Amino acid sequence: MTKKYVYGKPICTDAVLTKIEAEQGTVPYGKIATENGFEFAYQMDADDIVYGLGEANRGINKRGYCYISDCADDPEHTEDKRSFYAAHNFIAIAGKETFGLFFDYPSTITFDIGYTKIDMLRVSCDEANLNLYVIEGETPYEIVKQFRKMIGRSYIPPKFAFGFGQSRWGYETKEDFREVLQGYRENHIPLDMIYMDIDYMQDFKDFSLNEKEFSDFPAFVQEMKENHIRLIPIIDAGVKIEDGYSVYEEGVAGNYFCQREDGSNFVGAVWPGPVHYPDFLKEEARKWFGDQYRFLTEQGIEGFWNDMNEPSIFYSEESMEETKALLKELAEDDSKDLPVWVLMGKLGSLANSHEDYKRFYHDIDGEKVCHEKVHNLYGYYMTRSAGEAFERIDPDKRFLMFSRSSYIGMHRYGGIWTGDNKSWWSHLLLNLKMLPSLNMCGFLYAGADLGGFGADTTEDLLMRWVALGVFTPLMRNHAAKGTRKQECYQFEHIKDFRSLIEVRYRLIPYLYSEYMKAALTDDLYFKPLAFVYPNDEQAVRIEDQMMLGNEIMIAPVYTQNAKGRVVYLPEEMKFIKFLADGVITEKILEKGYHFIEVALNEVPLFVRKGKCIPVAAPTETVDELDEETIELIGYEGASYELYTDDGVGKDYENPEHYKMLKMEE
Ligand code: GLC
Repeated sequence: MTKKYVYGKPICTDAVLTKIEAEQGTVPYGKIATENGFEFAYQMDADDIVYGLGEANRGINKRGYCYISDCADDPEHTEDKRSFYAAHNFIAIAGKETFGLFFDYPSTITFDIGYTKIDMLRVSCDEANLNLYVIEGETPYEIVKQFRKMIGRSYIPPKFAFGFGQSRWGYETKEDFREVLQGYRENHIPLDMIYMDIDYMQDFKDFSLNEKEFSDFPAFVQEMKENHIRLIPIIDAGVKIEDGYSVYEEGVAGNYFCQREDGSNFVGAVWPGPVHYPDFLKEEARKWFGDQYRFLTEQGIEGFWNDMNEPSIFYSEESMEETKALLKELAEDDSKDLPVWVLMGKLGSLANSHEDYKRFYHDIDGEKVCHEKVHNLYGYYMTRSAGEAFERIDPDKRFLMFSRSSYIGMHRYGGIWTGDNKSWWSHLLLNLKMLPSLNMCGFLYAGADLGGFGADTTEDLLMRWVALGVFTPLMRNHAAKGTRKQECYQFEHIKDFRSLIEVRYRLIPYLYSEYMKAALTDDLYFKPLAFVYPNDEQAVRIEDQMMLGNEIMIAPVYTQNAKGRVVYLPEEMKFIKFLADGVITEKILEKGYHFIEVALNEVPLFVRKGKCIPVAAPTETVDELDEETIELIGYEGASYELYTDDGVGKDYENPEHYKMLKMEE
């Protein structure tokens, strides 16, 4: 049962699809104050758990910190950070009273979950213009499922997107891409995608190709496809200002860019230097930008990643003017006591500043709306622009699409990657803990940069991270320019990487099937143990193990130099270990705590009592997977309902996609 409360004049976000009539009374939980902005306050019970917030810092239980939904291009994801790239304003409180809340508000909103006062939950924002949804249900799991129904079906990627992908900021030439292909194929490490970062573009211009390096691009795309590789180019939000560049010129002519109050196009700077920002909230602009993807789809491209769409603003024309004025002032000041710290402060706050967000406007159905008020929708609407275009380009085909910034609603158009993490063990753990929360907010196709984006990775960190990535729908190794080379074949123990990634391919029938079931029934692919074992006090608090689909539990190793880890089993399970040489070991473990040994080149998983999962023979690409020779592992006599389809089309509801498999007694 969901109740909707309307405060002031909310901006329509299209996050919720179900039509719900607004309630007249007061909210059944907590207290609302609207005198000074908006505030929801709720006295939590000491044992309540708060779930949700999707892409956010810290753990599955969000208690004990303050989180701010304010999509930010901040690559330093340290434990103290309050804002990441996304704004996922859904929480579910479970305990004495159990209910869910969705604050559909597209500007900055703060979730103080026991930060100021240990048992106090306060959600506040500057303006009392929002829709608040209160979702009731017996358990947090039921609440999440209801919420997921309201916000519509999660994005479904093509099946090739369940393969492994290699990326790096810095691949510049066809030879660079061929080298990656060769590195993987020569070493027989499975690979399905190579990502193209900004260097494929001409001068970082969206929908352009570096003319010298990528002549006859369709032939190159084809060459890669013949090797079962999809090239996945990046698209950035800012459009370079350059005379003669058609995207820029069309955007100006069509009034498709965000404008200042005086009607001039706002100028910020990103990788290409000065750019305009498409007004994705304006329907015609969204359509126009979406149609630009044709430039690449017509050359054979089947997937993209949308970036810099918080939007990232390194500086604006205005903030640069202010900085220059300050520099001039400093230069003219001949006193010895130059306030350099003033300059440092100014430079430090130049990028992604709220001052800039106040400087430009969107045209929403003819109404001029300041960016500041709808800031958190920008990445969502950029990805919506692409998603809507793909429907026009080829309505019967799935395209790969994931974005850096997002808001709930975007989950219908694409997945996400969690942006610029670091090659830190703590980020491997953060990646793991975030997964169920992302799923609660609809983002099923998700993953982090395996190995870490910033900083130099180490072989063991990459191995452990790949062993987690085996289970995440988006499985991509990505690294920043200037960091240590991170492709799996750059390391000493190449064949161990092969073994790890082969496990992914062997599990694709199961992972894909569980993904599809979760997407088609608005369910979770990754669940906290608490959702499956709500009466088990130990299980309810566990944050470093997850349920994946309906059959298995995962417990990755995330500490350096560990020989294994402690695992809690809420019931008897079959401990399965994929060893380096393709051998699978099985052992029944009783309910309780166990230390399991896991070498760097091994992948552990646990099959729930009475269940089994399908495992294919290893292949080097998704195209080659043979679903006819599947073996079942798990409990004797168990059955598994396998979902399979062609991985491209959208005829999801066809009952022929389901097949019952049964293990011998
Ligand atoms: C941003 C992205 C990163 C990408 C880089 C260059 O930092 O998050 O993934 O490699 O830009 O395009």
